[in-house]
Amino acid sequence: MAGTERDRGGSVPGLRFAGAVHRLVLEGRAPRLARHYPTVGGTPVLDELWTDTEPVLHQHVDVLRRRVRATVVQTNEPGRMAPLHGGLLVAAQRAAEAAGHAEPFPIRLLEVGASGGLNLRPDRVALELPGGRTLGDPDSPLRLPTEWAGLPPADLDAPLRVIERAGCDANPVDITTEDGRLHLSSFVWPDMLDRWRRLQAALRLAATNPVRVAAAPGPSWLARRLAERRPGLLTVVWHSIVWQYVSPGDRARGRAVLAAAATKATPEAPLALLVYEPRRTAGGQGPSRWRFDLLLRLWPAGHSLYLGSGGGHGIPFSWDVRPWT
Ligand SMILES: C[S@@+](CC[C@H](N)C(=O)[O-])C[C@H]1O[C@@H](n2cnc3c(N)ncnc32)[C@H](O)[C@@H]1O
Repeated sequence: MAGTERDRGGSVPGLRFAGAVHRLVLEGRAPRLARHYPTVGGTPVLDELWTDTEPVLHQHVDVLRRRVRATVVQTNEPGRMAPLHGGLLVAAQRAAEAAGHAEPFPIRLLEVGASGGLNLRPDRVALELPGGRTLGDPDSPLRLPTEWAGLPPADLDAPLRVIERAGCDANPVDITTEDGRLHLSSFVWPDMLDRWRRLQAALRLAATNPVRVAAAPGPSWLARRLAERRPGLLTVVWHSIVWQYVSPGDRARGRAVLAAAATKATPEAPLALLVYEPRRTAGGQGPSRWRFDLLLRLWPAGHSLYLGSGGGHGIPFSWDVRPWT
């Protein structure tokens, strides 16, 4: 880990290390360690874990060092499509009300920090609601048990229509390759089998409807996409668990690009910002200091809403709508 001591805290070098070790296991290069990894059928035996780990670290030190330095955390978590789906329903309906339309707007979805692009299909997942109801596509290979408390403040009978979808990432993952799929898989923590199955189902769903994620930092890509106006569609800029990885320069540039586009939004070509990002809470210690909030801004309607909070992987989630200032 030498050389990572001064990396920005948000870039989480510890997770890059854990992902690099997991990848060795997934590649079949660490059979003794694999016995402890549930993602390859193992069961952790804590008394033997370090004895089985240490030789692997020595044997593969070069590749581990290289991966810790060269990779960014690529937790492309499909569970985040549950709050995204609900947030898009709210945005499409509020924008329609503001424009005097009876039907919700169809959507152009633009995702910044899309990683492998797994979350670009929120309309194609089956969202299982408490009480047995399903939203989205009931036949989807990807089923998300939403664990929602409350419901989005929207007409849930009006289906979500995503007409266009595109994403960018500073380090995109090409999920059409074995290497890309392994890379994403290595960032699912090995004892989280529900998430592991979700990721594999999301990869199958993505294969039925490929979308190439552009290799570009958010601001320049967003400026190009937002310059293409789409009257009749609600353009939604979405990012989840990205902000902590973005450099201060890109944050400032991204804000400026969005502010400029907001001034050009009209009732017939509205613009929304929808984000799912951690925010520090006043109380709490360690990881419980962080809360993951779903926030929505809508132009030109002028809405700015906190829609609710949930787990870092999008499930569970509690809907609770208030003004966001
Ligand atoms: C933890 S992943 C989250 C992926 C995805 N948004 C999700 O929720 O599943 C963070 C992603 O942000 C990307 N990223 C960081 N800075 C970026 C920037 N300035 N522009 C575009 N992408 C960026 C990283 O490459 C990484 O793929």
